[in-house]
Amino acid sequence: MKHTLLGTIVAVALFACSLSGFSQSVQSVDSLQAMILTPPTSEKPRINGAKVFGVRLGSPFMYTIATTGVRPMKFSATGLPKGLSLDPKKGFITGNINTKGTYDVLLKAKNAKGTAERKLKIVVGETIALTPPMGWNSWNVFAGEVSADKVKRAADAMVNSGLINHGWTYINIDDYWENNHQKKNDPTLQGDFRDAEGNVQPNARFADMKGLVDYIHGQGLKAGLYSSPGPLTCGRCAGSWQHEVQDAQTYANWGFDYLKYDWCSYNKIAQDSTQKEVPIYIRNKSTDSAGAIYPYALMGKALAAQKRDIVFSLCQYGMADVWKWGATVNGNCWRTTGDINDSWKSMSSIGFKQDKCAPYAAPGHFNDPDMLVVGYVGWGKPHPTRLTPDEQYTHISLWSLLAAPLLIGCDMEKLDAFTLNLLTNDEVIDVDQDALGKAATKVYSDNSVDVYAKPLEDGSMAVGLFNRGADKATIKAIWKDLGIKGKWKVRDLWRQKDLGVQSDRFEAEVASHGVVLVKLVADN
Ligand code: GAL
Repeated sequence: MKHTLLGTIVAVALFACSLSGFSQSVQSVDSLQAMILTPPTSEKPRINGAKVFGVRLGSPFMYTIATTGVRPMKFSATGLPKGLSLDPKKGFITGNINTKGTYDVLLKAKNAKGTAERKLKIVVGETIALTPPMGWNSWNVFAGEVSADKVKRAADAMVNSGLINHGWTYINIDDYWENNHQKKNDPTLQGDFRDAEGNVQPNARFADMKGLVDYIHGQGLKAGLYSSPGPLTCGRCAGSWQHEVQDAQTYANWGFDYLKYDWCSYNKIAQDSTQKEVPIYIRNKSTDSAGAIYPYALMGKALAAQKRDIVFSLCQYGMADVWKWGATVNGNCWRTTGDINDSWKSMSSIGFKQDKCAPYAAPGHFNDPDMLVVGYVGWGKPHPTRLTPDEQYTHISLWSLLAAPLLIGCDMEKLDAFTLNLLTNDEVIDVDQDALGKAATKVYSDNSVDVYAKPLEDGSMAVGLFNRGADKATIKAIWKDLGIKGKWKVRDLWRQKDLGVQSDRFEAEVASHGVVLVKLVADN
């Protein structure tokens, strides 16, 4: 994808006006340029995305080599384990691996402008999602108005916008693919919850689930679904209560690669002493977490028994300190908070309070501070996000530092130049996708200023200087706070620009609600 500078500035100007109600006061070219920070991608190939990929023995393997640069592109790979093959035109790697182990693969991409290489480590074992899942989810934009057609269009847009070339992978259907008997005035939701054998029935908007998943896979993307351990989902649609194993099988048969499992009406079950086999759990009261763990262990086991790799996303808003046991039920990620919305208050109060969960992040197991609220969002009534451009940089920087799942929540067909630019900075995405899988922690905090640091696999460190205050501020990242010594090269990740070598601190002026995100590399 290539932007011309003028086109970009005009697009950003229009977007910024609609965003912040600036229609009377035209911003200067300088300030608009400053809002678009990610430099345009090169016409030459560049391979992006995760550098490590986990798969279970014998599961269908699917990996798209995320690559920017002009097409046509020719892909090749050396060191691919037996059982895998590569489509040289599309860059899709598929197949099955039947021997456990770690395989070092060298990926190559070639076009008329040049060639690129990147190492990929394939780990065949027990753990999947070795880096945080990246993709899209229907909830923050469509909520109860989701349909197969909208999901297909989101998948198309993931490809046509070029986002797929930066590692964005999952297309996840949230609530409302099931029937709902409380919305009596909506005929598309009125079918049976289950057939005579107990198989869950998609609603009329999702007439052909398998066809939809095949379509998504055909684009080089993966597909996700949603359910609840309770009898009903949060939107009062059919949940999985007493059909856990059967539902896991159905999802696998349809070909799904991801399940978000949302507590919702399970509250009632967890408090019902007549349910003899179910341990009691009362939110905010129980000291024993067994009842909170129980339904997730059940589904975790059912998913693990499938012959597909299905990312298991726990959604229960952080109850019973889920980060302490999420991994033990095969959880690949777990929501640590209630729902986010597109306000500074919501995003910042969630994002800046994740330190307690940070030690539990690891490859295959990530804290989830909820989905992204950039672009056109609005839970059925979409509007441009109410976050300012600086707040959006804070959002993406912080989520990347936290090694959070990155799930775009906006209308994929309304991606403007600013949002696209925000979501396609490969150096920022690399921070999120780093193979070490550590979450950043706050190393310094003073009133409205925070410094976060995240150690990276190659010995370097990502550092975020955040200003939560109402005025611009000069923020210092001091080596002593970061636990480092000596000379370090500083690189501005949003601008993809080297800022020289520093020997005991890095300081920068940071806009109100904004961030400066840098990478420090030891300069020996
Ligand atoms: C909430 C969940 C949201 C969304 C919604 C669907 O509980 O946190 O992310 O899934 O349910 O009804």
